[in-house]
Amino acid sequence: MYLPGLAQYTLYHMVSLTNKRIVVGVTGSIAAYKSAETVRRLRDAGAEVRVAMTRAATEFITPLTMQALSGHPVHLNLLDAQTESAMGHIELARWADAVLVAPASADFIARIAHGLADDLLSTLCLAARSPLAVAPAMNWQMWDNPATQSNVARLRERGARIFGPGSGSQACGETGPGRMLDPQDLVALLAGMFETGELAGLNVLVTAGPTWESIDPVRVITNRSSGKMGYAVAAAAMEAGARVVLVSGPTALAAPEQVECIRVMTAQEMFDAVMARVDTAQVFIGTAAVADYRPAQAATTKIKKTSATLQLDLVRNPDILASVAARTPAPFTVGFAAETVDVERNAAAKLRAKRVDLIAANLVGQAGSGFEADENRLVLIDASGTTELPLLSKLRAARELIHHIAVRYHAKNPAENPRLAHRQ
Ligand SMILES: Cc1cc2nc3c(=O)[nH]c(=O)nc-3n(C[C@H](O)[C@H](O)[C@H](O)COP(=O)(O)O)c2cc1C
Repeated sequence: MYLPGLAQYTLYHMVSLTNKRIVVGVTGSIAAYKSAETVRRLRDAGAEVRVAMTRAATEFITPLTMQALSGHPVHLNLLDAQTESAMGHIELARWADAVLVAPASADFIARIAHGLADDLLSTLCLAARSPLAVAPAMNWQMWDNPATQSNVARLRERGARIFGPGSGSQACGETGPGRMLDPQDLVALLAGMFETGELAGLNVLVTAGPTWESIDPVRVITNRSSGKMGYAVAAAAMEAGARVVLVSGPTALAAPEQVECIRVMTAQEMFDAVMARVDTAQVFIGTAAVADYRPAQAATTKIKKTSATLQLDLVRNPDILASVAARTPAPFTVGFAAETVDVERNAAAKLRAKRVDLIAANLVGQAGSGFEADENRLVLIDASGTTELPLLSKLRAARELIHHIAVRYHAKNPAENPRLAHRQ
């Protein structure tokens, strides 16, 4: 079911760069072709853009393209008297509200990490007092190299924001971390640097992934949750300005940047980790697929294949979501309901039974949505009604969910931020 009016549902409510002056630095990476779209999207978001390119970058994308898209001549040479007299590198550094280097090559990251100023873009980065954001793009082995890692750590220590990199298939045909984030994600992250953020200053506690319940030292009871949705929720909450603690069951995922990740294995461990943090959280989002039951007694040695059938006695695990919602005061509590049938009815029953503020329901067990998939179709249910989101990437679905939570959280707690309480 696709609700009428939902077709106009706008993504990226939060993205506004109106009147912001952004210098986009482009360096010599195969991802330089994406900077054309980055500039377009920045301008769509209301920003004024100037482009500075390294000499290597001009081998990958022409300054003419960047000039046409930004609407201004591209800054190329440090020692060019003509551009220096029009708008010199120091003037450009002062003009910028932020500098976004995307893509940032390993070489360029190394140069600015060491304060070099041997071309226009690096000189500008050194001279700029405005925030610097860097979107690395390189082969995964270059990214993994301790030299690159220590250069990135140096930049981060000095307050630069590092956007990504993402993981996946690379131009070189290999797979791993080092892909530049997509332009729309870069623009959203950049906008997040200026905005107060819908959850600014709040502590958000997120659970993610499955739990493992030991049967014996080598076997566990678990489920097919990959953790992708919960990690996306943690990233979206962070983008919205929250301080995020992610309590994660076993997953193969790297925790999002700036999120404090506590890794646990069992439901009991997850319960304990949540209870230790919940009193400082204003918002709790339980996306983890917590095992309802665990073996009453885990065998201390591997169970042998001797009998034709095997009986396991299971006992109930603590209910994390209900326990959080039952606290006084309780945080704004959001639960996920993974259902295989009757999604809305089951989710509404869960909303009432557990007394949570909001349930995000999704149909699992179908191809292309739910567990393990990269996309999800969420139905958001609270006391005031039901909102269906279209099929979205998990990060976009997470951003929509966070917006939905923020609106309801501020409506419930108007004293905290009267301005946001009226936002829809
Ligand atoms: C086809 C090709 C693709 C390249 N892609 C990347 C890349 O994605 N990331 C990177 O760090 N370097 C890449 N390099 C190497 C850089 O272009 C090289 O280090 C250059 O000196 C970077 O200069 P700059 O940092 O001044 O822009 C690539 C080189 C070639 C020939």
